[in-house]
Amino acid sequence: MKFFVDTADIDEIRDLAATGLLDGVTTNPSLIAKTGRPFLDVIADVCAAVPGPVSAEVTATDVDGMVAEGKRLAEIADNVAIKVPLTWDGLKACRQLRDLGAMVNVTLCFAPAQALLAAKAGATFISPFIGRLDDLGQNGMNLIADICEIYRAYPDTIQTEVLVASIRSPLHVTEAAKLGAHVATIPPKVLRQLAQHPLTDKGLAAFLEDWRKTGQTILQEAQAAE
Ligand code: G3P
Repeated sequence: MKFFVDTADIDEIRDLAATGLLDGVTTNPSLIAKTGRPFLDVIADVCAAVPGPVSAEVTATDVDGMVAEGKRLAEIADNVAIKVPLTWDGLKACRQLRDLGAMVNVTLCFAPAQALLAAKAGATFISPFIGRLDDLGQNGMNLIADICEIYRAYPDTIQTEVLVASIRSPLHVTEAAKLGAHVATIPPKVLRQLAQHPLTDKGLAAFLEDWRKTGQTILQEAQAAE
């Protein structure tokens, strides 16, 4: 499973990219607004910080406007993925932008039929939002299961990757991975939570305490042996 980080905070992105665990970045207009910085500058900085796809979302709502904005965003760097909403115009823009050779992430997907349409429009990624469905008392993970099942039924014609979005917890990530989703876009806080377990901390503290009692250090031992 590929890990994208769902933020436009360049410091967070650089810090997480340094781990070597990051395969890409997703942004949206709300995340860009939080930075208080010019959109194109933010995307240029993020594209330079990670080699993988960086989703940058159009804000026009008509086909021509989306395609014009998408073309401009694609000029920023080779790793820009143009994000378009899952509307009828968004699907048409997706097809046109794909025909121009751009990567396209179709976002705001809340139903399996929408995901099927995005695949037919040639989307590189489909972004189902699971947390927002959970918030309504529905099970967002059922949507991931349905999309994965549909896409897997057409391996010869559907190349669209399932990019699980609106992730709120480590459980969302592991459940999506069990279903075979290609990508999870994860908020920085949840990405860091993935590494945490109280028994890991407890076990490490006990090992270090026992080691301290020996009075040894590995590097001094190694030097003495040379
Ligand atoms: O970037 C799209 C998506 O991940 C947003 O998540 O938490 O605003 O529902 P959220």
